[in-house]
Amino acid sequence: MIITFIQKKCINHIHVNDKSTHLSEYDYGDLRMSLICKPLFEQDSSTLTYLIADSVTREAAIIDAVDSMIDRDIGLIQELELNLKFIIETHIHADHITSACPLKKTFPLAKIVIGIENIDAEACADIMVGEGHILPIGEHEIVAIETPGHTPGCMSYLVGNQVFTGDALFIRSTGRCDFQGGSASMLYRSIHKLFTLPDSTLVYPGHDYNGFTVSTIGEEKKFNTLIRLDFDEETFVEKVGNLNLEPPKKIDTAVPANHSCGLL
Ligand SMILES: [Fe+2]
Repeated sequence: MIITFIQKKCINHIHVNDKSTHLSEYDYGDLRMSLICKPLFEQDSSTLTYLIADSVTREAAIIDAVDSMIDRDIGLIQELELNLKFIIETHIHADHITSACPLKKTFPLAKIVIGIENIDAEACADIMVGEGHILPIGEHEIVAIETPGHTPGCMSYLVGNQVFTGDALFIRSTGRCDFQGGSASMLYRSIHKLFTLPDSTLVYPGHDYNGFTVSTIGEEKKFNTLIRLDFDEETFVEKVGNLNLEPPKKIDTAVPANHSCGLL
């Protein structure tokens, strides 16, 4: 039901690129209703943070902000004269500490948003979102999509024809499933739900380790090394199980800190 609704919302969107800013327009040629989308990189954990905003009302949201980059992010929000409305987490991160709580000190009206399954973070979050929950910024809507698997509480967020996939779907890869209650079978089903979005939907992952910043659902269905459309669940579970990755260096400090939205 929700995905049907989401697909309808995507139909009339047209995408335009200009160097660092991506504009999705409801009405071709009418920049008054454009969406600002800025991918921001953090090197230590290869995290991609996204600042998105309605260019007219200046209402904004930040997705997966990192503590060490807080000065950059505050500076950009202030420089662009944005009104930060939502500080959104895709999940409880194990490789870095969120700047959600510290950001809220600078932008006290902003609401901290996290997936409803993350009960450990309920005390510090303002909004617990489930499937289909809508967070409006100006004329745009951020639609929450439950994509568990990397962790049980993982969310993706769709804004027009752009989906922010956190640690569910990466560019040519996926999130790992070997800690924090991860489940490869669950992630398989979540990514197949994302695969029902139109092929032209732009994919913005929570991390990239290879220098990429954006893909599309169509590209990932065809070229993803772990979960392309013609791989069955068993193949995916085996491939993810064979990743043999080291545990994240900060897991012991990051997870408890992120249960408090970054309040140390
Ligand atoms: Fe993660």
